[in-house]
Amino acid sequence: MPAMAAVVVVAALRCMAWPCLALLCFAMLLRVPAASAETAAYIVHMDKSAMPRGFSSHLRWYESTLAAVAPDADMFYVYDHAMHGFAARLRTVELESLRRSRGFVSCYRDDAKMVRRDTTHTPEFLGVSAAGGLWEAAEYGEDVIVGVVDTGVWPESASFRDDGLPPVPARWKGFCESGTAFDAAKVCNRKLIGARKFNKGLVANTNVTIAVNSPRDTEGHGTHTSSTAAGSPVPGASFFGYAPGTARGMAPRARVAMYKALWDEGTYQSDILAAIDQAIADGVDVLSLSLGLDGVPLYQDPIAIGTFAAMQRGVFVSTSAGNEGPDFGFLHNGTPWTLTVASGTVDREFSGVVTLGDGTTIIGESLYPGSPTALAATGLVFLDACDNSTVLTKNRDKVVLCDASDSLGSAIFALQDAKVRAGLFLSNDSFRELSEHFTFPGVIVSPQDGPMLLQYIRSSRAPRAAIKFEVTILGTKPAPMVATYSSRGPSGSCPTVLKPDVLAPGSLILASWAENISVATVGSRSLYNRFNIISGTSMSCPHASGVAALLRAVHPEWSPAAVRSALMTTASAVDNTGASIKDIGRRNRPATPLAMGSGHIDPIRAVDPGLVYDAGPEDYIKLMCAMNYTAQQIKTVAQSPSAAVDCAGASLDLNYPSFIAFFDPNGGAGERTFTRTVSNVGHAPVSYSAKVMGLNGLTVTVAPDRLMFGGKNEKQKYTLVIRGQMKNKTDEVLHGSLTWVDDASKYTVRSPIVATTASSDRF
Ligand SMILES: *[C@@H]1O[C@H](CO)[C@@H](O)[C@H](O)[C@H]1NC(C)=O
Ligand SMILES: *[C@@H]1O[C@H](CO)[C@@H](O)[C@H](O)[C@H]1NC(C)=O
Ligand SMILES: *[C@@H]1O[C@H](CO)[C@@H](O)[C@H](O)[C@H]1NC(C)=O
Ligand SMILES: *[C@@H]1O[C@H](CO)[C@@H](O)[C@H](O)[C@H]1NC(C)=O
Ligand SMILES: *[C@@H]1O[C@H](CO)[C@@H](O)[C@H](O)[C@H]1NC(C)=O
Repeated sequence: MPAMAAVVVVAALRCMAWPCLALLCFAMLLRVPAASAETAAYIVHMDKSAMPRGFSSHLRWYESTLAAVAPDADMFYVYDHAMHGFAARLRTVELESLRRSRGFVSCYRDDAKMVRRDTTHTPEFLGVSAAGGLWEAAEYGEDVIVGVVDTGVWPESASFRDDGLPPVPARWKGFCESGTAFDAAKVCNRKLIGARKFNKGLVANTNVTIAVNSPRDTEGHGTHTSSTAAGSPVPGASFFGYAPGTARGMAPRARVAMYKALWDEGTYQSDILAAIDQAIADGVDVLSLSLGLDGVPLYQDPIAIGTFAAMQRGVFVSTSAGNEGPDFGFLHNGTPWTLTVASGTVDREFSGVVTLGDGTTIIGESLYPGSPTALAATGLVFLDACDNSTVLTKNRDKVVLCDASDSLGSAIFALQDAKVRAGLFLSNDSFRELSEHFTFPGVIVSPQDGPMLLQYIRSSRAPRAAIKFEVTILGTKPAPMVATYSSRGPSGSCPTVLKPDVLAPGSLILASWAENISVATVGSRSLYNRFNIISGTSMSCPHASGVAALLRAVHPEWSPAAVRSALMTTASAVDNTGASIKDIGRRNRPATPLAMGSGHIDPIRAVDPGLVYDAGPEDYIKLMCAMNYTAQQIKTVAQSPSAAVDCAGASLDLNYPSFIAFFDPNGGAGERTFTRTVSNVGHAPVSYSAKVMGLNGLTVTVAPDRLMFGGKNEKQKYTLVIRGQMKNKTDEVLHGSLTWVDDASKYTVRSPIVATTASSDRF
């Protein structure tokens, strides 16, 4: 899969930098073969309520428990907010004894390989020209604290300026930690109110203290995610021909607290847990997590575990769906108590304008950063698939047109290798946005323009083409579209809850960037900029975090589930042409809810959703009971409640603002029943009617189909039944929706419905 390949290449490149090599050598020298070979780092969950009397603190108890089974073991984290327990390096035999200790709940390996950062494109390319800001000033989000767990921050970034902000909210308990090479005074202001580092997992696992000892961003990922969540307005400049005012930061006056837990040298689950632990203790209102673990159950996923505790304390958590699309079932963070965000395009294209010798103009896609920004008229030649290096070298001084419909990546590499003057690539590759960051003058051209281009080349005695780069086109249609790379549901860890939840802007997003990480390489020259243009669900997740911050500011009394419900039921299922949102990964056919959830977030409508579907910790515990989790597994997630886990009323039917029904392709007619409770958060009295669309071939009934609310916060219950047969249709996905509309048509409370024959246990 191209997206995956890109990630692998980047990892390999990163390791070629000398600090990484040095680290590897250092680690090899230090390795003590016999003893350390069998020790490993583990995250250990403890039942805090089982602490015997006489211990002054849980820390003393954990220490004595560990010392009893492993006197030399190094306990490198103690957790008390995201979970109860600790992280330690242990031998296998010691771990076995620990399992028999009083209060032991569960444990799993602290494995760095499991965690994925959800950027599809890392700082290889692009850039140039002015510092540009685009966040439109908005008075929203003020005093809401967004915690970001990521690679760190670039504190001098204009996006973190605190101009005009009032003092830091008094309830904030955190602080800006200084470190070597990190000037605390520069970090702490009224916008960027916290910056801490977590890298003990790394230290414990490699025995090497890494060189970077500060929350400073070492690769741009963290700076861009925090600036996207709460980027402040930076007026007056332009970037890549892109004028400000046309886009906005989601919650420009929200405060940012950065928890650096991701390091180039390794991303450890123990560090992520420690960061979430601290963020909860510090008092964040929203957590933004643009990273995830693939293929683990909820009770072994530190993000699911840490965010359960956050949710219990009213913290809203936004997570990225992952970049493993477009096939079904590769989504991560399918956690029932977080928001899971898919990635879509915006109504903006970065273009290269090709002008042929006869004056014809063709607009293609390109993020070539210019330098110069225009290529004067140059000889044009068509070289088929551009797979013959001898021929390419002979045409080095020309603009080469390639038929790249089968292999865009290799055609681009071939021209780059041959050092050809410029390239035009005929391609409608569904991943092509990831190839737009050219390091030489290149433009991706639609295959629809192919016949005309070829006709011109054949009929002209001396065909020529000129190219103008850095042309930004706004208001492009249709938009948004679901990006191919965005991971699709169903969720592996909890298939009965429809995921992802929503779609947000994630493709080719302008974001703040670490200033000493190059954004582009043109020829042998590295370019630096305070902004970069990148794609991935790690960009869409913080957009949703920022909107959630805004909702928290307006409705501080709403639970995390109510905020999520508002985002989902008001999301738009149609694009800017009024048609269903399309999926680039399905050749532009309508996107299913497994790709975009309820649809594209609509911040203005989300503030006033009319009705909300609420849920709390007990509901999620009943869900895990129905998933047949053991008491230990439930306690691992739900912070070892002192009482025995109460599984009365266990149900897979969570009070969620969406529906997914699994049908057996070999079975007879079936029936799936869902019960939901909605709370009126709008005006009263008010009456709503049910409207069902789609799911052709199945029967969907809603009872009652009218809901009357006499007062605010009043609750009403209804059931939705899907009946029918989905015979001989393996992996079929039917979709539709239920919308509650009030009599005045002020509110439309929409829930997507999916009926599928994909097996729920395959995931
Ligand atoms: C490349 O083109 C040259 C010249 O047309 C030809 O001689 C050669 O066989 C081609 N190479 C390959 C690998 O097709
Ligand atoms: C970027 O700057 C920071 C702090 O000034 C430094 O620690 C880091 O090593 C630099 N990174 C690169 C790639 O130069
Ligand atoms: C690209 O275009 C070709 C030819 O027009 C078509 O067969 C193919 O389905 C298209 N692919 C995508 C991903 O749209
Ligand atoms: C849980 O176990 C029961 C009894 O074995 C079974 O009927 C049910 O399908 C299981 N549920 C899930 C979600 O696996
Ligand atoms: C459904 O599949 C079964 C077994 O593969 C086959 O015998 C039957 O003819 C199929 N029915 C239809 C309507 O395609």
